Amino acid sequence: TTVEWEAASYDMGGHDTYMHKEIHEQADAVDRVLRGRIDDRFSTVHLGGLNLDAREARQIRRVKILGCGTSYHAGMIGAQMIEELARIPADAEPASEFRYRNAVVDPDTLYIAVSQSGETYDVLAAVQELKRKGARVLGVVNVVGSAIARESDGGIYVHAGPEVCVVSTKCFTNTTVAFALLALHLGRTRDLSVADGKRIIAGLRRLPEQINEILKTEDEIKELAQEFADARSMLFIGRVRGYPVAREASLKLKEVSYIHAEAYPASELKHGPLALIEPALPTVAIVPDDDLLEKNRAALEEIKARSGKILAVAHREQEKADRTVVVPKNEDELDPILMGIPLQLLAYHTALALGRDIDKPRNLAKSVTVE
Ligand code: G6P
Repeated sequence: TTVEWEAASYDMGGHDTYMHKEIHEQADAVDRVLRGRIDDRFSTVHLGGLNLDAREARQIRRVKILGCGTSYHAGMIGAQMIEELARIPADAEPASEFRYRNAVVDPDTLYIAVSQSGETYDVLAAVQELKRKGARVLGVVNVVGSAIARESDGGIYVHAGPEVCVVSTKCFTNTTVAFALLALHLGRTRDLSVADGKRIIAGLRRLPEQINEILKTEDEIKELAQEFADARSMLFIGRVRGYPVAREASLKLKEVSYIHAEAYPASELKHGPLALIEPALPTVAIVPDDDLLEKNRAALEEIKARSGKILAVAHREQEKADRTVVVPKNEDELDPILMGIPLQLLAYHTALALGRDIDKPRNLAKSVTVE
């Protein structure tokens, strides 16, 4: 069972759906998650609610991030940021799996529960199990005072504002930014240099303007969506930083358009999914300009050689792709925050072309608060 969708209380502000409104609110939302938290003097950030002093932060040996659905994908991005910037081993797992597998709970691991609503039962149950076993749990949550926020030892509010559409867009983006803040903070209590701290802070400050730049490509993406609306299935690929972006984009598409979509690490193509490639299966590829660019280009070539149609989301035109959506480049570590945004628009316009009930997809609920 699920809770009732509570809409009506928020104004649509001239948009035809909440999803469209919330996609377009992202620059302001990111502005809010950053506000008051950047410390230029020490090239770090202040996270008032963390309840973790520097000595405790230094004692963390691992980070385990737990969430469901879109929040799990934000956690995957967060885990990579924490490994990259703080050099602490980190990974994400669906909270719904974690709570049933009698996981080993380690006192030197920092557990982080991610939830937009702060009420998802699987996440709450995982938090309660962890607390019972003496673990330290932080919450990365949007709704202030929600159950998961209350049960955690501390955490970060993502300040995205109310999100009404069942599928998450602005909360996803803000959660990834909150993780960037946490990764920077943990990094600067360890070995991340002042120069790298400054570089990341400058990158964070560029995000709102870059988001607005991406949103200006909406007409182009709308056109692309018409082309994809008759696909029966789509493949999403990305490598390392691009992989969670591909996962989330594929989830978004299936949730709102009901088109079957599957996400794969680009590196795994040759271990199975290449067998699926044919003109009727379009591929969306995440191709950042980072140290894996050439590897990703090789994957595009593999697909092209089998007559697969490719849409690339990249920092520059990809000649092997049929179409490229160019997104502005940020720092390598922060690129995943931006690269999924055009694909929110793709999911939205595909669903619109198919006449779906965008804000309230069949069989889904905004928060699943019971077993
Ligand atoms: C439900 C929603 C998803 C959401 C997930 C986690 O399944 O349909 O869109 O990502 O719950 O929600 P949370 O509030 O915990 O982030």
